[in-house]
Amino acid sequence: MRVKRCFAAGVGWTLLMGCVFAAHAVTFEVTEGNSTCIKAELNASFSISYNSTNGTREAVFPLPSSAVVGGGSSCGGSGLPPGLDLVFGEGHMISLQFSSDGRLYRVANLSLQYNLSDTDSFPQSSSAGLVVVMTNASGISARVNTTYRCLSSTLISLDAGVTISFSGVRMEAYMPSANLSTDESVCSADQTTTTIAPTQAPKTTAAPSPPPPPTPERGNYSVTHGNGSVCLLALMGLQLNITHLSKSQNKTISEVVNLQPNRTTASGSCGVTVATLTLSEDLTNLTFTFTLNATTQKFHLSAVNVSAFWSDMTDVFEVGNVSLELLQCSVGRSYMCSAEQTLAVVPEFSINTFSLQLQPFNVTANRFSAAEECRVDRENMLIPIIVGAALAGLVLIVLIAYLIGRKRTHAGYQTI
Ligand SMILES: *[C@@H]1O[C@H](CO)[C@@H](O)[C@H](O)[C@H]1NC(C)=O
Ligand SMILES: *[C@@H]1O[C@H](CO)[C@@H](O)[C@H](O)[C@H]1NC(C)=O
Ligand SMILES: *[C@@H]1O[C@H](CO)[C@@H](O)[C@H](O)[C@H]1NC(C)=O
Ligand SMILES: *[C@@H]1O[C@H](CO)[C@@H](O)[C@H](O)[C@H]1NC(C)=O
Ligand SMILES: *[C@@H]1O[C@H](CO)[C@@H](O)[C@H](O)[C@H]1NC(C)=O
Ligand SMILES: *[C@@H]1O[C@H](CO)[C@@H](O)[C@H](O)[C@H]1NC(C)=O
Ligand SMILES: *[C@@H]1O[C@H](CO)[C@@H](O)[C@H](O)[C@H]1NC(C)=O
Ligand SMILES: *[C@@H]1O[C@H](CO)[C@@H](O)[C@H](O)[C@H]1NC(C)=O
Ligand SMILES: *[C@@H]1O[C@H](CO)[C@@H](O)[C@H](O)[C@H]1NC(C)=O
Ligand SMILES: *[C@@H]1O[C@H](CO)[C@@H](O)[C@H](O)[C@H]1NC(C)=O
Ligand SMILES: *[C@@H]1O[C@H](CO)[C@@H](O)[C@H](O)[C@H]1NC(C)=O
Ligand SMILES: *[C@@H]1O[C@H](CO)[C@@H](O)[C@H](O)[C@H]1NC(C)=O
Repeated sequence: MRVKRCFAAGVGWTLLMGCVFAAHAVTFEVTEGNSTCIKAELNASFSISYNSTNGTREAVFPLPSSAVVGGGSSCGGSGLPPGLDLVFGEGHMISLQFSSDGRLYRVANLSLQYNLSDTDSFPQSSSAGLVVVMTNASGISARVNTTYRCLSSTLISLDAGVTISFSGVRMEAYMPSANLSTDESVCSADQTTTTIAPTQAPKTTAAPSPPPPPTPERGNYSVTHGNGSVCLLALMGLQLNITHLSKSQNKTISEVVNLQPNRTTASGSCGVTVATLTLSEDLTNLTFTFTLNATTQKFHLSAVNVSAFWSDMTDVFEVGNVSLELLQCSVGRSYMCSAEQTLAVVPEFSINTFSLQLQPFNVTANRFSAAEECRVDRENMLIPIIVGAALAGLVLIVLIAYLIGRKRTHAGYQTI
C-alpha cells in the first residue's frame, strides 16, 4: 500500500486571530496498487476539554496543513474496513473508518487520538499520554459512486467532551476511479443554507406535482416465530409519500413511490404486547410497531419509522413517530380496510395504504382471524343499504298513494 498527500492549489485563505487559522483545502489520498480508494479534502478543528493543574481547560486547535496520511490507512480487505488516518503534531491522529452496504457508504467509526504530553497543545495538563475517543454516529453518509459534500461547518461530538468541527469537506470512499465523482451526496447542513433563500422569498405558485403512481401492488408479508409458525400477517399495497429536497430540481417536492412487493423483504418480531414489521426495499426501510393494550384488549399501530435514500434525494431521509394511534382493532381479530387510507406519520412523511388487512397478535394456524373493518369501509357498505332502503321506501309510498287513490275513486263512484 502506498499513501500520498497533495495540496489543492489556488485556495486563498485569511489569517484570523484566534483559532481559525488553517483554512487550507488539503487533499488526502489512500491508494493500493495503482488504484485510489479514498480521497478526502477537508478542514477540521478540534475542541478538547482536559484536566489541568488549574482546573478543567479546553484546548482548541485546527488540523494543521502538515497533517499526513498515516500508515494505518488502508483500502480494506481481509476483514479490515477501509480507513483514512491523518497524523499530525506530537502523536495526534484523526481516523475515519468506512463501511458500505453496496449502495451507501458511511463513516462508521470516527476517532481522535490526542497526546496529553504535548504541552504546546495541552498546557499544564495534569495527565500525560495518549487518549482515544470515538463515535460511531458521525452522520457522514453518501451514496456509493458519489462524493460526500459538506462545505458548511458541522460539529460532531465524540466521547469525553471532545468535538470535531468539519468544514469544506469533499470526500469519497469505495471510489470507482481515481478522481472524485462529479455526482454528489450533499449533507443536510449544505441543504438548509440553499433552502433558506426560497423560504424567505414570497411563496410563488406550487410546483406542478408529477402524476401520482398507479395503485400499488398488494404485498403479502409475514413474520414468523423461531419455530416457523406465523405470528404477524399483513396483506397490503403501500405508497410512500416523502417531502424532501429534490436533487434534480433543487427545491422541496413531495415524491410518491410505491413499495414493490417482489423486491421487498419482511422481517420483524412478535412480543406479547409489542410486535414489529420491517419492510426493506433497496434503500427504503419501513418499520411498523404495533402495541397491544391489555386493559382495553385492543391493539393499534403505535410507531412508524422510515429511512430512505432515493435517487433524487440529496441526503438520507430518516423520520419516525412513536406516538401514533392508528389502525385500532380488537385483539384476536384482524384489521381490514379495502378503501385507500392515509397514515400521517410526520408532516414530511405519510403512507397511503390500499386493500389492507393485518394482524400483529394472536395469529392462529397461519391465517387471519375474523376481520374488523375500518370506518370508511363500513360507511361504504352502508351506502348500498341506505340506497336500497330509500328505494324500498319510495316503492312503498307509491304503493300507498296508489291504494289511497284507488279508494278515493271507488268512493267517488258511490256518490254519483
Ligand atoms: C501500475 O501501473 C504501472 C504502469 O501503468 C504498471 O506497470 C504496474 O504493473 C501497475 N501495478 C499494479 C499493481 O497494477
Ligand atoms: C478530570 O478529572 C476528573 C476527576 O479526576 C475526572 O472525573 C474527569 O473525567 C476528568 N476530565 C477529563 C476531561 O479528563
Ligand atoms: C488558573 O486559572 C485562573 C482562571 O482561569 C487564572 O486566572 C489563573 O491565572 C490560572 N493560574 C495559573 C497558574 O495559570
Ligand atoms: C506525545 O508527546 C510527547 C511530548 O511532545 C512526545 O515525546 C511523545 O513521543 C508523543 N507521543 C507519541 C505517541 O507521539
Ligand atoms: C459504482 O460504479 C462501479 C464502476 O463504475 C459500478 O461497477 C458499480 O455498479 C457502481 N455502483 C453503484 C451502486 O452504482
Ligand atoms: C473505532 O476506531 C478506534 C480507533 O481506530 C478503535 O480503537 C475502536 O475499536 C473502533 N471502534 C469500533 C466500534 O470499530
Ligand atoms: C411456536 O412458538 C410460539 C411462541 O414461542 C408458540 O406460541 C407456538 O405455539 C409455537 N408453534 C408451534 C407450532 O410449535
Ligand atoms: C403527498 O404529501 C403531500 C404533502 O403532505 C400532499 O400535498 C400530497 O397530496 C400527497 N400526495 C399523495 C399522492 O398522497
Ligand atoms: C439551489 O437553489 C438556491 C436558491 O434557489 C440557489 O442559491 C442554489 O445555488 C441552488 N443550488 C444548486 C446546486 O443549483
Ligand atoms: C416485479 O413486479 C413488477 C410488476 O409486476 C414487474 O414488472 C417486475 O419485473 C418484477 N420484478 C421482479 C424482480 O420480479
Ligand atoms: C390502555 O388504554 C387505556 C384507555 O384508553 C389507557 O388509559 C391506558 O393508558 C392504556 N394502557 C397502555 C399500556 O397503553
Ligand atoms: C406524531 O403523531 C402524533 C399523532 O398523530 C402527532 O400529534 C404528532 O404531531 C406527530 N409527531 C410529529 C413529530 O409529527
